[in-house]
Amino acid sequence: MPSQAVALGTLLSLVALRLITTSTAEAQLPPSTGGGGAEECIRRCGSVDIPYPFGFGPDHCALSQAYMLTCNDTGNGTFVPFGWKTVQVLDISLERGHIRVMNFISFYCYDATSQGMDYSRWHWDLTNSVYALSNDNKFVVIGCRTLAFIGNVKDMGKKYMTGCAAMCPIDGNQTLTDMSCSGMGCCQAPIPPGLQYYEVFFDDRWNTSAIHGLSPCSYAVLMESSNLTFSETYVTSPEFYTTYGGRAPMVLDWFIPNKNCQVARTDPGYACVSSNSECVDTASGQGYICNCKRGFRGNPYVKGSDGCQDINECDDPVKYGCHGSCANAPGTFKCFCPRGT
Ligand SMILES: *[C@@H]1O[C@H](CO)[C@@H](O)[C@H](O)[C@H]1NC(C)=O
Ligand SMILES: *[C@@H]1O[C@H](CO)[C@@H](O)[C@H](O)[C@H]1NC(C)=O
Ligand SMILES: *[C@@H]1O[C@H](CO)[C@@H](O)[C@H](O)[C@H]1NC(C)=O
Ligand SMILES: *[C@@H]1O[C@H](CO)[C@@H](O)[C@H](O)[C@H]1NC(C)=O
Ligand SMILES: *[C@@H]1O[C@H](CO)[C@@H](O)[C@H](O)[C@H]1NC(C)=O
Repeated sequence: MPSQAVALGTLLSLVALRLITTSTAEAQLPPSTGGGGAEECIRRCGSVDIPYPFGFGPDHCALSQAYMLTCNDTGNGTFVPFGWKTVQVLDISLERGHIRVMNFISFYCYDATSQGMDYSRWHWDLTNSVYALSNDNKFVVIGCRTLAFIGNVKDMGKKYMTGCAAMCPIDGNQTLTDMSCSGMGCCQAPIPPGLQYYEVFFDDRWNTSAIHGLSPCSYAVLMESSNLTFSETYVTSPEFYTTYGGRAPMVLDWFIPNKNCQVARTDPGYACVSSNSECVDTASGQGYICNCKRGFRGNPYVKGSDGCQDINECDDPVKYGCHGSCANAPGTFKCFCPRGT
């Protein structure tokens, strides 16, 4: 990778980005990975369930190309789902409208040989897609002499930028506290709701050339905040970067775009087709998702037996707190004291 020492302004205009495009991957016929489901669509890839509106294989297996994933053989007989061609999908939640993926970590490292800085920085453009960056993520920056930014500098209408500085007391005896990301060696910042563009850059005035013997690298990534466990060794070793192969888990919100529930309900393309389903507007107003009504579970996006079905609460008396006689009813249940008590 070429070494670069450029001013912040120049850095922004550099085309030396590794791009993740928003175009959906082509449908491919998956090898038999088990599962099955309605309309001969395979609903599982490796260990990951792929519920409708998501899918892979024939076009009708997903609601639209926007929800189409691929199921790739990793080379040793293990199948892993991908979206956006190269982004690994960890799991999909219908109820919360979440899809967890592996996002790429940006780095900024001093290279003693060239005496310059090596870097890789990511951007991800989800503008006008059915995905947005979830508030379950935080912008996480790790390093000892690091100032990194996350922002949307290209979209003039929705300009946004925030930064995070991570420092550590290199010469003292003070140790960094494991497990907490509180500014020393690690900094985290929330992102605004509904964001659909993500770009990382490092401030080149804060580089590790003077401390490279101890801490040669700075890292920055948008990641699921509950997944971050900071370790002191993250500033002195490549551990943060290498643990998941230069990646970290991130959460995306997905939705049925452009309409809110009120408008969508009367629309011929209304996605909540299961009986006993209901429509939920996304918090950022970019669309809606479907849920099963309380007391029902299943897939609100499909009709029939895979759709929202009554939960038999009586089968799980501990969870539903019925320690007497139980009578199930659609969407609910009744609990009685045994006769004579
Ligand atoms: C297959 O490779 C993946 C990474 O490419 C690895 O995570 C997995 O453990 C491997 N599985 C087997 C059975 O070797
Ligand atoms: C997964 O397969 C699709 C379709 O064959 C391909 O475009 C994509 O690059 C593959 N992704 C990875 C990470 O191998
Ligand atoms: C590191 O930053 C200093 C200023 O803080 C600058 O003089 C130096 O050229 C930078 N080194 C590299 C390798 O970018
Ligand atoms: C760091 O700690 C060691 C032993 O605990 C001590 O000998 C040394 O003087 C300390 N250094 C500083 C800069 O406080
Ligand atoms: C972080 O996410 C990875 C991938 O899903 C998982 O294996 C790991 O257990 C998670 N760690 C924490 C602390 O949540």
